[in-house]
Amino acid sequence: MSSLFLLFLLPFLCHSLPLCRNSCGNIEIDYPFAVDDGCGAPLYRNMLNCSTTFATNTTISTTDLFFETPSGSYKVESIDYASKSLTIYDPSMSTCTILQPHHDFVLSDVQSALIPPSPDTVFALMNCSIDSPVLNHYKSLCFNFSDDHSCDELYGSCTSFKIFQMLSNDTPPACCFTSYNTVKFMSMNILDCTHYTTFYDADKLKGEKPLDWSYGMKLSYGLPDTGCDRCRKSGGTCGFDVETEGTLCICSAAVNSSRECAAGTVEGGIGEAHTGSVLPSLLSLSTILFAFSTFFFL
Ligand SMILES: *[C@@H]1O[C@H](CO)[C@@H](O)[C@H](O)[C@H]1NC(C)=O
Ligand SMILES: *[C@@H]1O[C@H](CO)[C@@H](O)[C@H](O)[C@H]1NC(C)=O
Ligand SMILES: *[C@@H]1O[C@H](CO)[C@@H](O)[C@H](O)[C@H]1NC(C)=O
Ligand SMILES: *[C@@H]1O[C@H](CO)[C@@H](O)[C@H](O)[C@H]1NC(C)=O
Ligand SMILES: *[C@@H]1O[C@H](CO)[C@@H](O)[C@H](O)[C@H]1NC(C)=O
Repeated sequence: MSSLFLLFLLPFLCHSLPLCRNSCGNIEIDYPFAVDDGCGAPLYRNMLNCSTTFATNTTISTTDLFFETPSGSYKVESIDYASKSLTIYDPSMSTCTILQPHHDFVLSDVQSALIPPSPDTVFALMNCSIDSPVLNHYKSLCFNFSDDHSCDELYGSCTSFKIFQMLSNDTPPACCFTSYNTVKFMSMNILDCTHYTTFYDADKLKGEKPLDWSYGMKLSYGLPDTGCDRCRKSGGTCGFDVETEGTLCICSAAVNSSRECAAGTVEGGIGEAHTGSVLPSLLSLSTILFAFSTFFFL
């Protein structure tokens, strides 16, 4: 009897799991982002991926958040909801300590419009050929930042980039500090520079040595105003219909509303909302089972 009871119980227990996870590893997940489909803002659908990997022969696992783009998955280092920014890191990119071949950084059109690299994220294109557009017709796309940083400094003080100086006879190969728009419109092959690195908080790097720069990218996102505040205040979680992508206010496992949760649907916190709606169904289920068992045993 007890195993039969459990079998009936199982689907109900699964329903009591939160519909929208609010963290991935140690990163808080909140609107407009989500790691479960149907949660967050529809425009940000499928942009984040929470994945757990196990070290080969141990039971130690790590859970990481990834930002998915057409050019690959980038590890999310942090999300700052107050300043509406997110920092990502590409492990296959060159930095002051590692030299790795370039590959393009590509965002989808939606990403490019909604969550592009912030203006203080700099792309440093290195070892550019003398024919590179950024040394010729598009020279103006290169800039000096924080007044005191130059390519020579990058080539001279980073172990990984010293090779460019060593391999050149007199003048080291050109480099260019530029913004995301340059790499958005010209692929690395067109730019004709063999390596690149990116770093953010460029306006705070005055006097900082390249070894101490923050490598990676900071993305700034916009927040669509879809009445999420109203849903949240009523105790719901903002989400959307996976078929129509129309916005929804998720009140509990059993109740979704278009705007806000009705008074009484949600008691206490969001966590309690699920058990609140599941309990009555469990009670009625056990009542039915009890009725059945008494019927059979009679
Ligand atoms: C409520 O919305 C969520 C997210 O789209 C969905 O997973 C769930 O099935 C919906 N529940 C109901 C009762 O419609
Ligand atoms: C993993 O496996 C290799 C070979 O099978 C072994 O030498 C190594 O000690 C193992 N590492 C751990 C952390 O168990
Ligand atoms: C999530 O990211 C991991 C790590 O890069 C990747 O292996 C996996 O395929 C991604 N999953 C999805 C559904 O995109
Ligand atoms: C620098 O670029 C040239 C081509 O412009 C290439 O032949 C050379 O291998 C590059 N240097 C390094 C260290 O990759
Ligand atoms: C950038 O800095 C370098 C070295 O400090 C200087 O030679 C160059 O003229 C500067 N370029 C611009 C556009 O200010």
